[in-house]
Amino acid sequence: MSTILSVEDLKVDIPLAGGVLHAVRGIDFDLKRGETLCIVGESGSGKSLTSLAIMGLLPKMAQCRAAKLEFSGIDLSKAKNRQMRSLRGDRMSMIFQEPMTSLNPAYTIGDQLAEALLLHRKVGKKAAEARAVELLEKVGITAAASRLGQYPHQLSGGLRQRVMIAMALMGEPELIIADEPTTALDVTIQAQILRLLVDLQREMNMAMILITHDLGVVARVADKVAIMYAGEVVEAGKSADVFNAPQHPYTRGLLRCIPVPGKTKPGEHLGSIPGIVPSLIGETQGCAFRGRCDVAIGSCAHDIPRRVSESGHMYRCVHEGGQPAANAIQSEGRP
Ligand SMILES: Nc1ncnc2c1ncn2[C@@H]1O[C@H](COP(=O)(O)OP(=O)(O)O)[C@@H](O)[C@H]1O
Ligand SMILES: [Mg+2]
Repeated sequence: MSTILSVEDLKVDIPLAGGVLHAVRGIDFDLKRGETLCIVGESGSGKSLTSLAIMGLLPKMAQCRAAKLEFSGIDLSKAKNRQMRSLRGDRMSMIFQEPMTSLNPAYTIGDQLAEALLLHRKVGKKAAEARAVELLEKVGITAAASRLGQYPHQLSGGLRQRVMIAMALMGEPELIIADEPTTALDVTIQAQILRLLVDLQREMNMAMILITHDLGVVARVADKVAIMYAGEVVEAGKSADVFNAPQHPYTRGLLRCIPVPGKTKPGEHLGSIPGIVPSLIGETQGCAFRGRCDVAIGSCAHDIPRRVSESGHMYRCVHEGGQPAANAIQSEGRP
């Protein structure tokens, strides 16, 4: 399988009145054709800014740098706005948490879906409409042809999200980024829509970055997982490696917090991670998780080793295996 997306040492800074917010602090990952990478992490860990950086949709004031940001051989860090626009919606597209950020209330569903294709392909209006109906049917919308004349506000939240997925898939993109695509929906509909998205992704052999809080979904659909904390990837690897043998104390904490089908027994107490994410304004020294970590020691305040196993399972922790050797905490003392 060939690599479709390579990200190396991606950084996103946001200058604020009180100093520079280092929101994404040097992250790496890559994605092969048809592969699914799930990014997991608390709110504010830099997941959305990472997605927006790839799509060329960062807010104007954000400053983005990367050693490598390459999509299908194209250097995205050097791409002009025009080239990014022509890639977006054609070879790569994004599904946002809130459908109304993508759907225009002033145009019909049919016009918006067709537009997504007419912008990028040499097709006529009739062909674009036929494709729109096909996609609406694919995303499980009944009487699809009759929906074309409707406006977004005439649809329920779940239907709007289905329309947005259809719109993102109109041009059969090679890469799709879905940023918490179902968070705004009822829990019962969330699972349906995620399943639909994953089925279509497999059918079209698209690479996907899926950002979700639902570790149950991650366990089912991810090929690879990246755990983000305070703007860094603290652990990443094949899904099975990360779930079966989590190494970073933060990952272990997350897995304790969230029920995982097949792992959590009914009635089992779910933990939580006390404390808050540190401010990322100004330079952050050492491990950003150390203030909340129950195995933190003095050396966590300094450079943190990046440990990688042969299978590519990576984590950043002073402790080998994310656990202190016997007596390490007592001998070194907490930071
Ligand atoms: N437009 C913006 N202006 C100022 N700060 C921002 C902006 N967008 C994001 N941030 C900050 O950057 C950090 C990372 O944000 P984000 O990528 O949205 O996190 P996530 O998607 O993981 O919740 C957060 O601290 C957030 O407050
Ligand atoms: Mg986000």
